Amino acid sequence: MAAPTKEVKEIMSDKITNVMTETRRFEPPADFSKKARVPAKEAYEKLYRESLDDPDTFWKRETADLVFDKAWKKTLEWELPHARWFIGATLNVTKSCLDRHLGTPTENKAALVWESEPGDSTTLSYGELHQQVVEFAAALENLGVKKGDRVAIYMGMVPEVVVGMLACARIGAPHTVVFGGFAAESLRDRINDCEAKLVLTQDGAPRRGKPVALKETVDAAVEHTPCVEKVVVFRRMPDLEITMKEGRDVDWYDAVGQAGSNRQPEPEAFDAEHPLFILYTSGSTGKPKGILHTSAGYLVGTHVSTKYVFDLQDDDVYWCTADVGWITGHSYIVYGPLSNGATCVLYEGAPNFPDWGRFWELIDKHRVTILYTAPTAIRAFVKAGDEWVDKASLASLRLLGTVGEPINPDAWMWYRDKIGKGRCPIVDTWWQTETGSILMTTLPGATYSKPGSTGLPMFGVEPDVVTSEGESADANEGGRFIMKRPWPSMLRTIWGDDERFRQQYWSEVEGAYFTGDGARRDEDGYYWVVGRIDDVLNVSGHRIGTAEIESTLVSHSSVAEAAAVGRPHDIKGQALIVFVTLKPGHAPTPELRTTLKTHVAKEIGKFAAPDGIRFADALPKTRSGKIMRRLLKQVAAGEKTEGDVSTLEDLSVLAKLRDEDE
Ligand code: PRX
Repeated sequence: MAAPTKEVKEIMSDKITNVMTETRRFEPPADFSKKARVPAKEAYEKLYRESLDDPDTFWKRETADLVFDKAWKKTLEWELPHARWFIGATLNVTKSCLDRHLGTPTENKAALVWESEPGDSTTLSYGELHQQVVEFAAALENLGVKKGDRVAIYMGMVPEVVVGMLACARIGAPHTVVFGGFAAESLRDRINDCEAKLVLTQDGAPRRGKPVALKETVDAAVEHTPCVEKVVVFRRMPDLEITMKEGRDVDWYDAVGQAGSNRQPEPEAFDAEHPLFILYTSGSTGKPKGILHTSAGYLVGTHVSTKYVFDLQDDDVYWCTADVGWITGHSYIVYGPLSNGATCVLYEGAPNFPDWGRFWELIDKHRVTILYTAPTAIRAFVKAGDEWVDKASLASLRLLGTVGEPINPDAWMWYRDKIGKGRCPIVDTWWQTETGSILMTTLPGATYSKPGSTGLPMFGVEPDVVTSEGESADANEGGRFIMKRPWPSMLRTIWGDDERFRQQYWSEVEGAYFTGDGARRDEDGYYWVVGRIDDVLNVSGHRIGTAEIESTLVSHSSVAEAAAVGRPHDIKGQALIVFVTLKPGHAPTPELRTTLKTHVAKEIGKFAAPDGIRFADALPKTRSGKIMRRLLKQVAAGEKTEGDVSTLEDLSVLAKLRDEDE
């Protein structure tokens, strides 16, 4: 086996996954393959080849069940780095998700099965969901939202969040959903960056039995957002007291009532490249990036991948446990499943409320057949103990999926044996906010899986692993993970910053999209993603930019300098550790440590609060003044510092960093 390149070696030393020696493989169960959409490896290979060699034929056929008002004239135009897909087509994305099911048996099929945290559930059929979306779209128009206006959504996991997103899509107003765990400052920055005109929110959302005051956070955020004209409030917890600002705040159903019968059953058709949504994600600088997705390409990517990766059948009950505030929720709770007419479970609460048995009870209660969740959740369930799983039957399950981070083979095996009872294939899906849909996976009826490997490319996807010199790496030689050609659901740009888009994704490897990840491809062509090689961490499946954490800490009056690094963590994948130097006059006390953790939670969100803060007299730097993160990572992990320290400005700094409290 060739030696991995330096940067991949560095990540591998994080021991996020110990996959270099993993050799087990699991063939798709024969009875699964028999009924599967893609029943054999040869069938996958044939489709895959066609998707690369004859994309026109491939995409025409695979999108025949989607609704285009005008067909496209040309499949792709690529002027590096900008790609445009399905040129000349016009469509309204919601017609594929809703209208096309009307008048078919799907009209009365459950679109959303909502399970509240307290435990009651309601079902919305496709017909009902369509009706609600049409009504709410009229309400948005009545409030002055026009095609192209941005709408921010800050809500919990309720059916209304899906209604809100689709209503925006219906009138051509790009939505930007902000995860309900973000603090007011983060919400404010996102609203201002895309100049949203309107905010959709709810009074509060129950989380582990207590209300999370979403409206209150919106109130704080919109004090500093001159662009916001209206705030629409859904009453989820009517007992929770909120203030409604006269002239600005409108009750959700009042807004619907005021729009009256002003409904347009036939929605406008937009250009294929009309913006569908902006979703903010962390990058390697302090400012989050507004990832822009457009209509036709995104719909096609999510539609086709949902159908094949989850092998959707008409009677499936599909549950993706992500929050709708992240890309997984957008693509695999809303657009992908609904455009396929699937029944989706939407769960409002925490995985361990009221106890660690909640997920498994819910699967039995709703007879879930497909479960799509994150490795961090799986590891937490492993730790909670098998007794919670053993209380449930889980007999309805037929397929399992993971997303968001590398999964360690032990957790994978537990998922397979304990949850899937050895009979359910597992799809380990690799993708990103930027990619819009799944780019790497195995297909459950067609291709065998290897625990910890994300498998093979999806249709139309041409990945590679390249060395520091930009050359295709040999089998098992690590390197940069890239995409050599555009795919339909790729991001189109970073909202308001096309130059950053070029820099971030298209400058690292000539002519290719750089994912920011390190990977290796094995002798069977299977990909093993080891993690980020840029300054981005993955903490419990949440993407956190080290620069974002650092600039937030430096904004505190006591902090002179900060350097954030990841440390391997059994459940979270990575824990966030920050090294901090203080300004003169500030003492490194335990109280200050708590204050700084709270500061990050308040500015960004609780999920981004550092797990550890280490005070230092100075940070190790090269002679040119660059912080040596590699060393800090090793120090944080309690490892021997290896490698070249000859450029270190002052070796005594390193000695002092050890044995610090956090
Ligand atoms: O590092 C990869 C990791 O998550 C990153 C993308 O994060 P985000 O945009 O938040 O989207 C997460 C959900 C799609 C990737 O660059 N990642 C995602 N899926 C996997 C993964 N790493 C390994 N294996 C995966 N299956």
